[in-house]
Amino acid sequence: MRVIKTVSGMQRLQRHGRVGFVPTMGYLHEGHLSLVRMARKQSDFVVVSVFVNPTQFGPHEDLARYPTDFARDRRLLAAEGADVIFRPGAEEMYPVSYATYVEVERLTSNLCGRFRPGHFRGVTTVVVKLLNIVKPDFVFFGQKDAQQAFVIQRMVRDLAFDTKVVVGPTVREPDGLAMSSRNSYLARVERTQAPVLYQSLQLARRLVQAGEQDPVRIKRRMRQFIKSKPGVRVQYIEIVDTEELKPVRRISGRLLIAVAAFLGRTRLIDNIILQKRG
Ligand code: PAF
Repeated sequence: MRVIKTVSGMQRLQRHGRVGFVPTMGYLHEGHLSLVRMARKQSDFVVVSVFVNPTQFGPHEDLARYPTDFARDRRLLAAEGADVIFRPGAEEMYPVSYATYVEVERLTSNLCGRFRPGHFRGVTTVVVKLLNIVKPDFVFFGQKDAQQAFVIQRMVRDLAFDTKVVVGPTVREPDGLAMSSRNSYLARVERTQAPVLYQSLQLARRLVQAGEQDPVRIKRRMRQFIKSKPGVRVQYIEIVDTEELKPVRRISGRLLIAVAAFLGRTRLIDNIILQKRG
């Protein structure tokens, strides 16, 4: 397994067959590794990027304390049979005089986009650049970052990238907490409360299955449920369609139910997708 740090080195690299690409910000967990395994199965040559992208963090967010452990990432990726790690520095990706950004409209204005201005502009910009550098046949993202996956799928379609976006299922801890590099920030008590996000989504699923059609009532029940854990502060609960990510007035069709909450300073997100006929 090679580690490549420069854009030109990555672009010159001889690859063979179908290229699968997993973009990451490192500090890998089972969620990332499940995507690497999918890439391994579907492609002949697997590239994983490890790059903490500064443009997707807001001024008061956790860029400075984002966890890293490259030695561990490297070991894990070697064990999964990745062929190349692309690990550029920030100055390699954003050299002095860098001036170009990519923005997806509408889909980025709701959910996390509402509370993290500029976040998706940073994500789409770096992903476009990574796609241009790696030129993969397949690129893999996790369902845990549902809005990111929808936004990138739309961008890849709109800009006619010759790359297929594959979205892998959310990988969870035994108690339901969605795996995330940010879980490492949680204090012990916060970690015991964190599964409440997924539990609230399961509550929503049960309400829909029982015939509840009013998204407002479902969101209210979810909020009340999360409030039972002192110290968990809801940022948003939304029920949106999976095309434009707009809030729905009635439960029907394919829906994304998404939640974001703070446990202390740590912001966690989770979601489920439901299909309701009729
Ligand atoms: O999901 C992530 O880890 C990041 O947003 C991504 C896609 C690697 C872009 O920096």
